[in-house]
Amino acid sequence: MSETSAFLAACRRQRPSHRPLWVMRQAGRYLPEYRALRAKVDFATLTRTPDLAAEVTLQPLRRYEMDAAILFSDIMTPLQGMGVDLTFEPGPVVRQPIRTDAQIDALPALVPERDVPFVLETVRLVRAGAPRGTPLIGFAGGPFTLMCYLVGGRPSKEFGAARSFLYAQPDSAQRLLERLGDAMGEYLLAQATAGAQALMLFESWAGLLAAREFTRFALPAVRRALAIARRAGVPLIYYVNQGAALMEAVADLDADVIGVDWRMDLAEVRRRLGPGKAVQGNLDPAALFAPAEELKRQVAAVIAAAGPAPGHIFNLGHGIWQDTPPEAVARLVDYVHEYT
Ligand code: CP3
Repeated sequence: MSETSAFLAACRRQRPSHRPLWVMRQAGRYLPEYRALRAKVDFATLTRTPDLAAEVTLQPLRRYEMDAAILFSDIMTPLQGMGVDLTFEPGPVVRQPIRTDAQIDALPALVPERDVPFVLETVRLVRAGAPRGTPLIGFAGGPFTLMCYLVGGRPSKEFGAARSFLYAQPDSAQRLLERLGDAMGEYLLAQATAGAQALMLFESWAGLLAAREFTRFALPAVRRALAIARRAGVPLIYYVNQGAALMEAVADLDADVIGVDWRMDLAEVRRRLGPGKAVQGNLDPAALFAPAEELKRQVAAVIAAAGPAPGHIFNLGHGIWQDTPPEAVARLVDYVHEYT
């Protein structure tokens, strides 16, 4: 089957009509129209109100010719649905960090239709309202990344509590990760059933682990999530932040696309992953602050490194910064389109 969407074609390593692009965190605080809405409604309420969440999802598509939409939600939203008491300040803060087997065993399985119906309704609304037939990406947090917040309790640079938990209580860590893997698999599958046309796992804190611990702890839970999500029949994307030491470890995952940060050269990434994977990335979000000519050179460098073979989705290497000028994103979209 050949795809009419450039994004979906690239996910499947078919030749797209042009090099597709979208931007991680494209719906959010760098957009004045998002800030205007946020001035009236807090973040958690936004994520739980389908017509508002759908509106925010569509905001970047009205300004820019993005090739994909990403659901407006948060990686922690399904955990709230599982009864975890947390607030966004603005990063997620968990009232009672998880440290014991009793807490892990008390975590219920996620039943998306019951626990997060508003997410599925948002998916349906976005599908009905997306301009130009733009495909929608559903997403979840990678199990290890979720564990970092659940065990650590709040955003951190090193997530020392979560990492030491792996070594101090390896069996408990594994149990928690398995549970999260299964829950996120069901969550992704439900988003696809509601209409999401691709599914992405964000492993934002993968780079905190050595390849050995990543392979022992994080990967088995990712495999569980992907095995469940695979039943949806849509492309699966695994984003592995700071994954320079982890490319061989993720190469045989059952994901169609591996997303990477800006520290790696995409030519090398493609070599290490082999021909069976598409890649997504990887402009430094900081490059959006460059003068126009320099931004253009940076875009050209990413495209050159990715090479002419099908299977590259242009993106940033991590989420867009909230102080990014919206005009820089307009230039980025133009340059990617010009080069392809
Ligand atoms: O446009 C999109 O990408 C969709 C929305 C989206 C949000 N969070 C909205 C949000 C997505 C895909 C996420 C994923 C997410 N959340 C990740 C993985 C991606 C990454 O950036 O690494 C992580 C680690 C989180 C956890 C989280 N949630 C943090 C660290 C923060 C605060 C700091 C920040 O970067 O914004 C949040 C809150 C959050 N999630 C906001 C938004 C727009 C800000 C809340 C606000 O409006 O006050």
